[in-house]
Amino acid sequence: MEVVYAAPGRINLIGEHTDYNLGFALPIALPERTVVSYSPTDTDRIVVRSDREDGEVTIALDTAPGAVEGWAAYVAGVVWALRGAGHEVRGGTMSITSEVEVGSGVSSSAALECAVLGALVTAADLPIDRIAQARIAQRAENEYVGAPTGLMDQLAALFGEAKRALLIDFKKTSVEPVYFDPDSAGIGLLLINSRAPHRHAGGEYAARRTACERAAEQLGVSSLREVQDEGVEVLDRLADPVERRRARHILTDNQRTLEVVAALEDSDFGQVGRLLTASQASMRDDFEITTDHIDLIADTAVEAGALGARMTGGGFGGCVIALVADDTVGAVDDAVRRAVADAGYNAPAITRTHAGRGAAAVSRSR
Ligand code: GLA
Repeated sequence: MEVVYAAPGRINLIGEHTDYNLGFALPIALPERTVVSYSPTDTDRIVVRSDREDGEVTIALDTAPGAVEGWAAYVAGVVWALRGAGHEVRGGTMSITSEVEVGSGVSSSAALECAVLGALVTAADLPIDRIAQARIAQRAENEYVGAPTGLMDQLAALFGEAKRALLIDFKKTSVEPVYFDPDSAGIGLLLINSRAPHRHAGGEYAARRTACERAAEQLGVSSLREVQDEGVEVLDRLADPVERRRARHILTDNQRTLEVVAALEDSDFGQVGRLLTASQASMRDDFEITTDHIDLIADTAVEAGALGARMTGGGFGGCVIALVADDTVGAVDDAVRRAVADAGYNAPAITRTHAGRGAAAVSRSR
């Protein structure tokens, strides 16, 4: 038997670092996908190869954190987490191909986890719903790979839909599709890859998470979501000015996320753009997860006529998204390329993108 299963990368329109604070986010799945071909056999290991890497990696079915490192740790982590959830996994061979760029902040990791998981689940007909699948994939990343990330990327990869963004409420763990088709309104969604790699497992992501948890603790609540309705004034009770700013980003980005959903319902892309730009400022000044390079790209896009622009993803590099009217796309593209070159950075990759569908089986043969 061979199962072929695909899962997409994602970009987040707004609501950054809100997931592990049980707030709101609004990602879309990208058209680019990672594809896993899995042939189960009666063996106690999975032998996996990837079009991105030389050679093959052997993963014992009873693998445990620490046993496999590098790119194959995402595969091993899914095997480990799926077995840990009480499911049987068969050995065999897996081959992986991917269109999702690694290290650029579009979550190649969740695409890989969800594609591997989907292949294993489909081959064995396991009755695991998509929320539970997201949690298994997240556990692989948190506990096997060792990156303390939230649940957004996996939910985006699993629930993505064409022409829809996904309003996620991380307190309820609910996903609500929201119509999102800027192309039909004569507006392009540009994905500007700075080509400056970002890092998560690294200390900065974890430090932001710790600061948010400490702020919640000082406020006497289990997560910052619990004070969302009290307004930012509640943060005056925090003694540490850095924690106050970190928490302010979370509360204001949650609010902006809901405002973007309302603006999309009115097809008011001007307002959506302003909210994206406000989120960029909040990530720059309050959460401090942008870089000079990223700020230059976002600022230049807006100065050249974009309706709005912001970094997307965990931060410290990666991609900027911009909403740009059709007749301004060329000017924004030129201005960004020029500004980046003048500042001595690598040339960006700029593409026009849209919301694609979520993880799904491609084929299953006996
Ligand atoms: C990374 C993490 C997500 C989320 C974003 C920031 O992509 O994997 O869980 O925290 O950063 O919004």
